[in-house]
Amino acid sequence: MERLKLLTGTAACVVLTGLAIATAMADPVDDTLEIDGVPMITKAPAPEGHPFEEVLSGWLFREAETRATEAESFANPGMFAVERGAEIWGTVEGTMGKSCASCHNDAAESMKGVGASYPKWDAKSNKPLNVELQIDKCRVENMGAEPYKFDDADQVALTTYIKHQSLGTPVKIDLSQGDMQTWWDKGKEAYYTRTGQLNFACASCHEGAMGKYIRADHLSQGQVNGFPTYRFNTAGMVSLHNRFRGCIRDTRAEMPKAFSDELMALEVYVTWRGTGLSVETPSVRQ
Ligand code: HEC
Ligand code: HEC
Repeated sequence: MERLKLLTGTAACVVLTGLAIATAMADPVDDTLEIDGVPMITKAPAPEGHPFEEVLSGWLFREAETRATEAESFANPGMFAVERGAEIWGTVEGTMGKSCASCHNDAAESMKGVGASYPKWDAKSNKPLNVELQIDKCRVENMGAEPYKFDDADQVALTTYIKHQSLGTPVKIDLSQGDMQTWWDKGKEAYYTRTGQLNFACASCHEGAMGKYIRADHLSQGQVNGFPTYRFNTAGMVSLHNRFRGCIRDTRAEMPKAFSDELMALEVYVTWRGTGLSVETPSVRQ
């Protein structure tokens, strides 16, 4: 269906210094996703004030093979990160002689639904924390261990493991806590600000050109509900801030640091844009 539409679509292209957005459109597939028998919400009514009527999971925009790989845990290479995360969960580290399990016991119970509500406001640091930063907080304050370096394989694995405990749970963040609304506002501003040599904003691709093709990629709404994600491209896991940085790099703009205020604000705002979609971690992308 996707291919058919692409072939019959108009061939005209807009070429912008190397980045071509084809005007050929393809609808997201009309299909349902179950992962190991658990139904996923891949389409949800958008929250009030959202530019779309319906929020759509990136899964709906991928090729059949990629979709099938995500639907079957045995086939999903992202499950190795979940397994590694489970190992770390039970491993003692740091000066206090504790593991995550020493305090949180069985993650299947203590972490159920938790990943669906991040980023969350942290009064102590007066900032929103994502799962990666909450893990670091526990490592430093509750274990006497070092925070992870950005994109350390163990940071990605543990984040994947925690988010996976919310598989199927609809994303919902609480904007009423602390200054979350201010961070949402900042994130929204960043989302619509055109930057880089190519003068693109996030919205240029994920809102204005949603459903179109850029190179061989079918542009989705750029939702975050499947992160960390397994990518065939790099044959490995990709964290959310890595993905944000990659998208920004593609516009030839300067990349903000991972966990910088700018990317945390974007995470708050973009997570809100996917309100109601199930957590699909680890999702599979090309
Ligand atoms: C000594 C006990 C202790 C250890 C060890 C510990 N934590 Fe925590 N953790 C807490 C406490 C207390 C809280 C709640 C207060 C806070 O946010 O710090 C918490 C909160 C969390 C939360 C947020 C839960 C929510 O509902 O938002 C996550 C996620 C988490 N911990 C993950 C981990 C991980 C992963 C590890 C191992 C790397 C770990 N913790 C180690 C005590 C601990
Ligand atoms: C030049 C076009 C372009 C711009 C600008 C762009 N992206 Fe992307 N983005 C892509 C493409 C292509 C993909 C992979 C296909 C897809 O899922 O849309 C992608 C994927 C994503 C994904 C993963 C979606 C999933 O389901 O796995 C997220 C999240 C994302 N982008 C966020 C952003 C944010 C935030 C910005 C602004 C900082 C941004 N993007 C700017 C092209 C762009």
